[in-house]
Formats: sequence, C-alpha cells, structure tokens
Amino acid sequence: MKNKGALLKELFTNLSTTGAVTFSSKPLVNKMLSYANFRGAKLIVELGGGDGSITQGIVDRMDSDAVLLVFEINKSFCENMEKIFPQKNIKIICDSAENMDKYLGGKKADLILSSLPLTLIPKPSREEIYRKCKENIVENGKLIQICYSYLLKFQFGKYFEEIKSHLMFKNFPPTFILVCEQ
Ligand SMILES: C[S@@+](CC[C@H](N)C(=O)[O-])C[C@H]1O[C@@H](n2cnc3c(N)ncnc32)[C@H](O)[C@@H]1O
Repeated sequence: MKNKGALLKELFTNLSTTGAVTFSSKPLVNKMLSYANFRGAKLIVELGGGDGSITQGIVDRMDSDAVLLVFEINKSFCENMEKIFPQKNIKIICDSAENMDKYLGGKKADLILSSLPLTLIPKPSREEIYRKCKENIVENGKLIQICYSYLLKFQFGKYFEEIKSHLMFKNFPPTFILVCEQ
C-alpha cells in the first residue's frame, strides 16, 4: 500500500486529470455521505476513487450484501485501492466513468457518489458522464457530487430535475456538495 505522501505526489503530478492538490478530508466525506441513504442500497457507484478516502466512507456505511463499483482512470490509484479494498463486493475498475454502463450488467445504481474533476474533463466526455449517470441510476436514486464550482449545478440541471447544493466552508478550498435527483 502506498503512503499518503506518495499518493499526494501522484495527485499533484497529474493535476490535469485529478483536479485537486489534496484528497477529501474526513469531515467532507462525512458531510457528503450524510446526504445518502445507504440502507437498502444494493448497487453503489463511486466515480473518481483516488486515494480511497470516499470509498472508505462508503464501505463503512454500506449494507454487507451491497456491491460497490469504483471507477478511477489512474492506474497507480487503482492498484493501491485494490490492496486497500480486497473485498469481493468492492470492484475497482480502472476505466473512465463514461464507460460505467459496460460494468453494470444492465442493473441501475441506487447511489452514485462522485468527486470527478468535471470542469477539467473535455465537454464530450463530461456530457457522456452526465448522460450515463442519468440513464444508470434508479428512479429514486441520488447522485452526489463534490466540486469547487457552483456552475456545475447548471450542468447537472440539464439531466436531473432536483438539485440541492450545500457549501462546506470548513473544507479548504470551500467545497460544494450537489445532491441530484431525477
Ligand atoms: C479530485 S480527485 C478525488 C479523489 C478522492 N475521491 C477524493 O475525494 O479525495 C478526482 C479523481 O478522479 C479521477 N478521474 C478523473 N477523470 C476520471 C474519469 N473520467 N473517470 C474516472 N475517474 C476519473 C482522478 O484520477 C482522481 O483520482
């Protein structure tokens, strides 16, 4: 398993695809996940696993018979998460979020939890991610995105009916939590 310093170096040297200089803090993860209802959620998708900080929060809360798919494009982060999360019901998928449907086997997710750096993802891929999220989430499911830009609310608004935003000042930089429902 990589230590925190090595993970931060990986994050920092790949800024154009990671979009962050630090990983999500525990208070941010707790706040983000407080908007999700894990009870009964049998298929959970995480987009942008990184160091596994949000993944760990999900694992701590999810039902023991739930399945978690974690999408992450950075190979080094994937290899590290495979070591941290060897459980059979946690699948680390080293592929882009825009290909999520290929791994869902026709099922829909109850929850999608994302820390993707959407403002850095080229528009065609980004739009494909929004479209796939909408198509692959159950009717009463929730997509929760953390981001630094309030403008993303309007992009999600093209695909989701109801979006609630919460600003977490305590985090640096201050972070928005967008809770999207159909
Ligand atoms: C801001 S970091 C968040 C990492 C961690 N989840 C956290 O909250 O600290 C965003 C992560 O998304 C990954 N990523 C970027 N584009 C992606 C894509 N298209 N599909 C899947 N993961 C992606 C990056 O490699 C990076 O690890």
